[in-house]
Amino acid sequence: VRSKLYDTIILGGGVIGCSIAFNLAKKGQRILLLEKGRVASQASSAAAGMLGVQTEMEENGPLFELARKSRAMFPEIVAELREITGIDSSLIRKGMLKLALQEEQIDECQSILEWQHSKGEKAVWLEKEELLQKEPCLSEKILAALYFPNEGHVSAPDLSNAFAKAASYFGTKIREYTEVRSLIKDSGAVTGVTTNGGDFYGDAIVVATGAWSGGLLSEDINQSTVYPVKGEALSVKAEIPLLTRTLFSKGCYIVPKKGGEMIIGATSRAHTFDQKVTVEGISYLMERAKELMPVLAGAEISSMWAGTRPMTNDGLPFLGQHPELQHLFVATGHYRNGILLSPITGKIVADLIADAVHPEIDLTPFSPTRHRNGQEVMLR
Ligand code: FAD
Ligand code: GLY
Repeated sequence: VRSKLYDTIILGGGVIGCSIAFNLAKKGQRILLLEKGRVASQASSAAAGMLGVQTEMEENGPLFELARKSRAMFPEIVAELREITGIDSSLIRKGMLKLALQEEQIDECQSILEWQHSKGEKAVWLEKEELLQKEPCLSEKILAALYFPNEGHVSAPDLSNAFAKAASYFGTKIREYTEVRSLIKDSGAVTGVTTNGGDFYGDAIVVATGAWSGGLLSEDINQSTVYPVKGEALSVKAEIPLLTRTLFSKGCYIVPKKGGEMIIGATSRAHTFDQKVTVEGISYLMERAKELMPVLAGAEISSMWAGTRPMTNDGLPFLGQHPELQHLFVATGHYRNGILLSPITGKIVADLIADAVHPEIDLTPFSPTRHRNGQEVMLR
């Protein structure tokens, strides 16, 4: 008889895998987390850290509901992680501005304002003069903006590392440089994984391998369901603070971090795992950023990077238990919002696994097998 060393094995040490590990370990489970490289070295460290529920979601729906529940968890989770690990994830809640640069964007913003008000969210329309009063370094060419005072951001690498460290504090064993090669199946159940460092067995297996999940899951949730979307970004620093609120526009955002640092993001290119930082990508972002804030021409470039977002065919993550393969759980496909969604994802998946509790949130729209039966889904 094979002895089961772990209650749950989590595949992938990004913000999603680490949040699940933290939540499960805190409940007393014996957790093994397997990461092919270093913890928090992929998308979770490339992210700008925006908690953009109202800014990122263009329509009302299950993702908006999930995201706003997750955003509400940040003050408490950031304080708890700081208490346990000493890592401060730098939660800043000074709001975000969705900018209208063309007439048709004014109409778009107005309809967003209406449905978000109907959901009880705060959203304020700012004419150009009011906008420039709030943010004097913005370009005169910006016509107006929607202001979301409750949005904010964190340091994505710090949050991811804090989840990992807190998971370790509660006993999680983290094995870096351990690549999972396949799932071990036995009579309709997943019982373990094969890796470059041997086989491991657990009562539950969670796939949280981000953009790389397609390879491990292609047989089990249908073809081509998770795919990579490359994003390039850079950070710049000015001698004096130039911006208080995050700017969000089509194709470019600017996130003011502590110490006068600003993250400018991000490009978007689907179906590539390439992580080169290119002249084309960075010059595009710099041009767009200067259109929003001409004063950035004099800012100093601090660093540039690229990361790989995990996208699904309909833009919704896969969350929950596999309906046919026992003991297999999936938490991936968080695309542009994995940092934002990490607290709620960790909680939902941990409740499902440890307590078999059906979360208060309906997970049907996030079912890992929803793309089956040849259903055509719209790419958002
Ligand atoms: P990852 O962080 O990629 O982690 C997956 C891990 O699995 C990796 O460490 C990988 O090495 C490991 N792995 C893969 N295959 C295997 C294997 N076979 N065995 C073992 N380990 C394996 N989100 C926001 O909420 N706000 C933002 O502002 C934001 N900005 C972004 C900006 C950019 C430029 C990019 C690229 C992304 C941004 N995102 C943002 C999205 C966010 O980064 C992702 O949604 C999130 O990090 C996904 O987390 P993850 O844990 O699923 O993936
Ligand atoms: N959420 C910002 C990005 O993915 O670029």
